[in-house]
Amino acid sequence: MASAHPNRPRPPAMLLLLALLHFSLGASKINCATPPDNSTDVLWLQAFKHGITSDPSGWFSSWNSSANHCMCSSSIGNLTFLRTLNLSKNSFSGRLPPLNHLQKIQVLDLSRNRLHDSIPDAITNCSSLRKIRLTTNFLVGEIPPKVGLLSNLSVLDLFANNLIGIIPPMLGNITSMRSLVLAANNITGSIPDELGKLTNMWNLALGQNMLSGGFPRCLFNLSNSLQILGLGSNMLSKEVPPNIGDDLPNLQMLVLYDNMFEGQIPASLGNATGLEWLVFKNNNLTGMIGEWIGKLTRLQRLYLQANSFIGPLPSSLGQLTQLRYLTLGNNKFEGPIPPLGQLTQLEGLSLANNKFGGPIPLLDQLTQLTYLDLGNNKFGGPIPPTLGNLQQLWYLDLSQNNLEGNIPIQLGSLTSLYKLNLSSNKLTGKIS
Ligand SMILES: *[C@@H]1O[C@H](CO)[C@@H](O)[C@H](O)[C@H]1NC(C)=O
Ligand SMILES: *[C@@H]1O[C@H](CO)[C@@H](O)[C@H](O)[C@H]1NC(C)=O
Ligand SMILES: *[C@@H]1O[C@H](CO)[C@@H](O)[C@H](O)[C@H]1NC(C)=O
Ligand SMILES: *[C@@H]1O[C@H](CO)[C@@H](O)[C@H](O)[C@H]1NC(C)=O
Ligand SMILES: *[C@@H]1O[C@H](CO)[C@@H](O)[C@H](O)[C@H]1NC(C)=O
Ligand SMILES: *[C@@H]1O[C@H](CO)[C@@H](O)[C@H](O)[C@H]1NC(C)=O
Ligand SMILES: *[C@@H]1O[C@H](CO)[C@@H](O)[C@H](O)[C@H]1NC(C)=O
Ligand SMILES: *[C@@H]1O[C@H](CO)[C@@H](O)[C@H](O)[C@H]1NC(C)=O
Ligand SMILES: *[C@@H]1O[C@H](CO)[C@@H](O)[C@H](O)[C@H]1NC(C)=O
Ligand SMILES: *[C@@H]1O[C@H](CO)[C@@H](O)[C@H](O)[C@H]1NC(C)=O
Ligand SMILES: *[C@@H]1O[C@H](CO)[C@@H](O)[C@H](O)[C@H]1NC(C)=O
Ligand SMILES: *[C@@H]1O[C@H](CO)[C@@H](O)[C@H](O)[C@H]1NC(C)=O
Repeated sequence: MASAHPNRPRPPAMLLLLALLHFSLGASKINCATPPDNSTDVLWLQAFKHGITSDPSGWFSSWNSSANHCMCSSSIGNLTFLRTLNLSKNSFSGRLPPLNHLQKIQVLDLSRNRLHDSIPDAITNCSSLRKIRLTTNFLVGEIPPKVGLLSNLSVLDLFANNLIGIIPPMLGNITSMRSLVLAANNITGSIPDELGKLTNMWNLALGQNMLSGGFPRCLFNLSNSLQILGLGSNMLSKEVPPNIGDDLPNLQMLVLYDNMFEGQIPASLGNATGLEWLVFKNNNLTGMIGEWIGKLTRLQRLYLQANSFIGPLPSSLGQLTQLRYLTLGNNKFEGPIPPLGQLTQLEGLSLANNKFGGPIPLLDQLTQLTYLDLGNNKFGGPIPPTLGNLQQLWYLDLSQNNLEGNIPIQLGSLTSLYKLNLSSNKLTGKIS
């Protein structure tokens, strides 16, 4: 598009905007000779310019409406053709533009600016909207229930603002919704049952809010679509429903950390064999982890720390060859560690603050390991010299166990080590 204006000065900010503003040009050519008109979209841009209070990248200060008419008017008609407006990753601050003039807009992305406004009801006049991204601004107030009238919306992403109020049940009317991201706001109330009508949704991210109530069983209606479910860091409680893995078999990420869930992790999750992330840390979960975990052969992250899990680990854990992070610390696990030698992708392993016993597990093949914390358990016997094979290690904590014998000289080859804690054991000999 910039090539259509060979004589136009092109400061970088203008080039960026030209790249980000997409007009549906059809077959028409840009012709600056035709007199400008007052299209609704130009009025819109003028109003937006008027509303913003800071424009460090200088686009609006370098923009004037006659220049813009030259760029966008004439044979294009007027900016009511605007289909996509992407002003993301700038430093616009102040108010949101008066959206009601952009009646054909399909994609609106004002993410990563410094907009401080509430989301206006007038957004519902942009009835062609398919994607709205307003992430990482300072938007305040409630999500207008009328957003539920945007029947073609497939992406609503309001991540990281200061929004309050409830999740409007009206959102359940937008059956074309595929991705709903309201994470990192201050949204309260329970998760409305109406979300169970969004049977095309694959990504639901509601974490880092103040949501309460139980696990949203309405989502079991989304069994064919839902792949990512993020509910971490809320105030959700009660049990995780036993049938979750059967009713949401396509889950790839289940993220429930920092809540107050209690009871056991349902064995049915073994049926959700596409799971890559399973994040339950910091809840009130209990019981043993069953052999079913071994069915999740795509699992990359298993975070179970800071719960009240008990018993020995299932031997099938050793089959999860894609695992990169395994954190089981701060529980009441006990018994010996099953063979983990096949977990060659493992980068972080924490078993700290449990009652695990037996010898230190054989880990010499886990050469990707950077973080190993076995502290405050009941491991006995010597420190295996083969720990010296773990050349990537920067954190090694074997403190508060019953380890005996010398510090193996091989540990001296761990040249990446940043933290080594062997305190409170029964080690003897020289420190060489
Ligand atoms: C556009 O609007 C301005 C002020 O609102 C007016 O002065 C001008 O005549 C209008 N131009 C056209 C082409 O309508
Ligand atoms: C803007 O474009 C639309 C669609 O072509 C047209 O109907 C309308 O008359 C134009 N508005 C003005 C003010 O020219
Ligand atoms: C506005 O654009 C017109 C036409 O391109 C140009 O002649 C004029 O100098 C511009 N004004 C400012 C303040 O940049
Ligand atoms: C807007 O542009 C940014 C940067 O080019 C891009 O990452 C983002 O996906 C775009 N937004 C939409 C909704 O396409
Ligand atoms: C929506 O558009 C209609 C018709 O263009 C207009 O009458 C109404 O005021 C607009 N609503 C809002 C909230 O801007
Ligand atoms: C919604 O999408 C359908 C199918 O693409 C289209 O026919 C319809 O015009 C759209 N509705 C609006 C209000 O844009
Ligand atoms: C959420 O609300 C609490 C208390 O009302 C407030 O302290 C906190 O700053 C708010 N957080 C955000 C992200 O708005
Ligand atoms: C939208 O949802 C609300 C509440 O869920 C419901 O009362 C209303 O009838 C729905 N409206 C439409 C147009 O479907
Ligand atoms: C499940 O989805 C269907 C549409 O596919 C809808 O009619 C029904 O109300 C939904 N049930 C729940 C509990 O949300
Ligand atoms: C966890 O459960 C215990 C006992 O069941 C209870 O006292 C405690 O308050 C719970 N903690 C949380 C964070 O819910
Ligand atoms: C789902 O998991 C449960 C518990 O592990 C098991 O009994 C059931 O047979 C599984 N269902 C399917 C369809 O695999
Ligand atoms: C080493 O481990 C002990 C026991 O777990 C702990 O009290 C101490 O703070 C740790 N030392 C360092 C430097 O982290």
